[in-house]
Amino acid sequence: MTDGFARGRRLRSTPALRRLTAQTRLSPADFVLPVFVKEGLTEPAPISSMPGVVQHSVDSLRAAAHEAAEAGIGGLMLFGIPAEKDPVGSQADAADGIVNRALRHLRADLGDELVLMADLCLCEYTDHGHCGVVTPAPGAVRGQGGAMVVDNDPTLDRYAAVAVAQAQAGAHVIAPSGMMDGQVAAIRRGLDGAGATETPILAYAAKYASGFYGPFREAAEGAPQFGDRATYQMDPPNADEALREVAQDLAEGADAVMVKPALPYLDIVRRVADAVDVPVSAYQVSGEYAMVEAAAARGWLDRRRAVLETLTAIRRAGAGTVLTYWAVEAARWVR
Ligand code: PBG
Repeated sequence: MTDGFARGRRLRSTPALRRLTAQTRLSPADFVLPVFVKEGLTEPAPISSMPGVVQHSVDSLRAAAHEAAEAGIGGLMLFGIPAEKDPVGSQADAADGIVNRALRHLRADLGDELVLMADLCLCEYTDHGHCGVVTPAPGAVRGQGGAMVVDNDPTLDRYAAVAVAQAQAGAHVIAPSGMMDGQVAAIRRGLDGAGATETPILAYAAKYASGFYGPFREAAEGAPQFGDRATYQMDPPNADEALREVAQDLAEGADAVMVKPALPYLDIVRRVADAVDVPVSAYQVSGEYAMVEAAAARGWLDRRRAVLETLTAIRRAGAGTVLTYWAVEAARWVR
C-alpha cells in the first residue's frame, strides 16, 4: 500500500501490459479509402497538395482497388471528375459518366469484397462548382449577373437521379455529402422507386464548412467559382446543430451517419456516437492529411506515429469507421 496516491504507471510498464489494457484498437476493416477517378486520364496524376494521393484513371483505380482489398480495408469512397461540366452536373447521373463507369468495373472485378461507396454530390460535376443547382438570389434579376444562390429543392431531384444511377452502376452504399435539406428523404424515395430498396444511405449528416477541404478542391476539381459553401454546410462554432442534422437524417431514412472533418470535430464525433445507435463514421479530410504529410516531410514529426495517433483518437472519440487517405498504409501497419 502506498499512502495518498494511486500507481497508474503499474499498467503501463511493458508493451505487453499496454497492449492488454488498450481500450481502443485499430483494424484494417475500420478504414475506408477515398479515391478520385478522372475521365480521360491514361496515367494516374499526382495531387500536389496531397503527396501520395492521385487522381486515378479507370485502370489505375482498378489496380488500387485490388491493393486495397488485399490490405483488408473496409471499403472505398468514390469521387468522379468528369471531362465536361455543366450547370446541373449531368455527368453525375449519366450511365456512362466517369464514376458510374468506374463503379461497374470495380463491382465486376471485386464483387462484394470491398464496400463500394459512392459520394453523392454535384460540386465535381457542375461548372460553377457548387453542390447543387443555382438560381438568382431573390431580388436579383435573371441575366443581369446578380447574386446566385444554391437552390435546395430542385437539387433534391438531381440527387435522387444520381443515387439511382450510382446504385444501378454497382454502388453498395450511397453517401450524400451536399448538405441540402431533405436530401436523404429524396434519395431514399428515388432508390426505393427504382427498386434499390436494399441500398443503404450513409449520410454526411454533420458536415462543416471547413478550411480543411482545401487540398480536396485540387483533387476533385470542384472549387466553387463564386461564394463559398457557408449557406449549406454547417457553421464551425455550432455543436447542438450537428445533433439536429443527425436526427433529421435518421428520420429521413439514413442507415448510418458521418461527421466531417474528423480531428477538429472530435467533440462532435463523441456527441453523435453517444446520441445514436446506428454506425458512425468520421472523415479525416484532405487538409488533415496534408498537415501531417507536410510536417513529416520536414522531419517535424514522426509520420507513422502521428498518423496512427490521429486514427486512434478518431476511433476513441466514437467513430466506428474512419475515412482516411492513409487507409491502405495504416491497414498494413495495424494488421
Ligand atoms: C464535396 C466534398 C468535399 C469533400 C468531400 N466531399 C469538399 C467540399 O465540401 O467542399 C472534402 C473531402 C476532403 O477534404 O478530403 N461535397
